[in-house]
Amino acid sequence: MLVHGFPFHSGMWSEQIGPLRKIGRVILVDLLGFGASAMNGATPATLTMDQQADAVAAALDHLKVREPATYVGFSMGGYVGWSFVRRHRARLDSLVMCNTRALADTPEAAQARRDMANTVEGKGHKLVIDALLPRLVSPRTLEQRPDVCARVVDLIEEAQLAAIAGAQRGMAERPDSTQLACELDLPVLAIVGEHDAISKREELEALTGRMRDATLAVIPDAGHMTVFENPTATNRALGEFINELR
Ligand code: MLT
Repeated sequence: MLVHGFPFHSGMWSEQIGPLRKIGRVILVDLLGFGASAMNGATPATLTMDQQADAVAAALDHLKVREPATYVGFSMGGYVGWSFVRRHRARLDSLVMCNTRALADTPEAAQARRDMANTVEGKGHKLVIDALLPRLVSPRTLEQRPDVCARVVDLIEEAQLAAIAGAQRGMAERPDSTQLACELDLPVLAIVGEHDAISKREELEALTGRMRDATLAVIPDAGHMTVFENPTATNRALGEFINELR
């Protein structure tokens, strides 16, 4: 199951779906508030990682998926993944943590999220694009790959502002998952972009070095948006990990 990042929807996996379908069944999740799970006027002020993890489990129930699955979480989808481990561990046979973190936010980072949440509905998507785009892609992508930047911007513009606010408040209150990650008894692949400004390579190297059964794939020529910036290397890492499990 592929669980998208913030503030995207399952369409962010467009480069992965074809290759992964050759390996097995692919389940695409739209987290609460996003994509086909948009909640319009009913979006809660805070969309917690636990609520999202329970929604992913409910989607598996709905699809009658009983056997343990590989959870692939991108960034916020990875934060939801740690909640999924806490609450639905029996449904997992392995985990792929793409461009994500186990650490909680610093107080300053959490406050910046709350500030965006409190102003985004008045200011619109431009606030989000200006704040996020330079951090989502590598400096080279930002300068030389307008096609990739346009895809990221399009995804951001498709998000409802209330969902952006709710998810920011939810991410601001997520707990630290470092201990959970280090105690985890599941095969884990961590993926990080060589130039990722959000989930940094050194942070992931330190984390995976402490985990029981984790491999780190560093994706060259990519920032945070590995899935778009270097889909070939990202898909290779995903495919090798999943094939080895089967
Ligand atoms: C994401 O890609 O989901 C976000 O960058 C996560 C975050 O804001 O920490």
